[in-house]
Amino acid sequence: MTKVLVTGAAGFIGSHVVEALEADGHEVTALDLRWGDDVRDAAVLGRLLPDADVVVHQAAKVGLGVNVADLPDYVSVNAYGTAVLLAAMAAHGVGRLVLASSMVVYGEGAYDCARHGRVRPGPRSAEDMARGSFEPRCPRCGEGVVLAPIGEDAPADPRNAYATTKLAQEHLAANWARETGGTAVALRYHNVYGPRMPKDTPYSGVAAIFRSALEAGRAPRVFEDGGQTRDFVHVRDVADANVAALTGGVPGSLAVYNIASGQPHTVGELARALAEQRGGPEPVTTGEFRLGDVRHIVAVPHRAGAELGFHARIAFAEGMKEFATAPLAEPSRHRSA
Ligand code: UD1
Repeated sequence: MTKVLVTGAAGFIGSHVVEALEADGHEVTALDLRWGDDVRDAAVLGRLLPDADVVVHQAAKVGLGVNVADLPDYVSVNAYGTAVLLAAMAAHGVGRLVLASSMVVYGEGAYDCARHGRVRPGPRSAEDMARGSFEPRCPRCGEGVVLAPIGEDAPADPRNAYATTKLAQEHLAANWARETGGTAVALRYHNVYGPRMPKDTPYSGVAAIFRSALEAGRAPRVFEDGGQTRDFVHVRDVADANVAALTGGVPGSLAVYNIASGQPHTVGELARALAEQRGGPEPVTTGEFRLGDVRHIVAVPHRAGAELGFHARIAFAEGMKEFATAPLAEPSRHRSA
């Protein structure tokens, strides 16, 4: 039995993490802004940390942000909040951290060019996308490339405020581990879905947007040509990864893991699966695009299997069947993860 402080415990992922920890016999203390306790408040942490062996840090401002007006809030909640937490953990002798990170730190996926080997294309141009040319090309020769799954050692390429602050959290955790001898584990969640996912907002992931549309009797609107690839991982698998991470890592360092299902699917497949489960309406592929979106991002999930013993158990078809009718949560003003 481990005593665990879970931050962001009222959120979509945090609430499942609490359930999984308790089911595994751990003693959980839960903190959430929605319940009036802020991770940026050292006095709150001073009250809760003396009872904890591990902090599982899920509290975050999530989503991709709406515009630059969001920047201060992302830095405050995600980067500053983590800094306050780490300083308080050091002060109270709590030597283990599990951090909710994200695959967004990678930016675009990895690709192989026939002439230039492994490449990492930059952002796609508005001109290419407007004429329906969505696939990234080799940054050196402009030829087509083949998607390759991304491993944890790929260089980071954060392209928005959320990604930048998730990467900052990882770096701060690594600093803390080196300085204090603590053990830090960062879990880079891929596209998490499942019961209690927040409803459609500008910050929602595509699974919740499609689900909300179908529930309202509207067709899911599939952007680009629907061929974008993601790894949709079920929230109960993500919660299990957090339980597995309680005993992972190496003192004095940060260990990083992709948390994914290992079964990539396209956004078009996601829309069809959900529409089919709910009996329509049929998805429409609109050709719209968002400039900040990456085309494909697919994980190599092997390290988490080898080192944490984590393997996702909920297959896409099974998970989508449940998600098609599972309850969604009202979005919180505070956007805890
Ligand atoms: C998402 C999250 C990101 C998180 C990551 C991993 C958001 C906004 N993004 O990134 O914060 O770190 O998962 O969990 O929460 N799309 C449509 N129709 C729509 C909306 C989106 O086709 O109505 C497409 C997009 O063009 C994109 C794909 O769906 O190709 C995924 O979009 P989304 O879920 O928003 O963002 P991710 O980049 O996957």
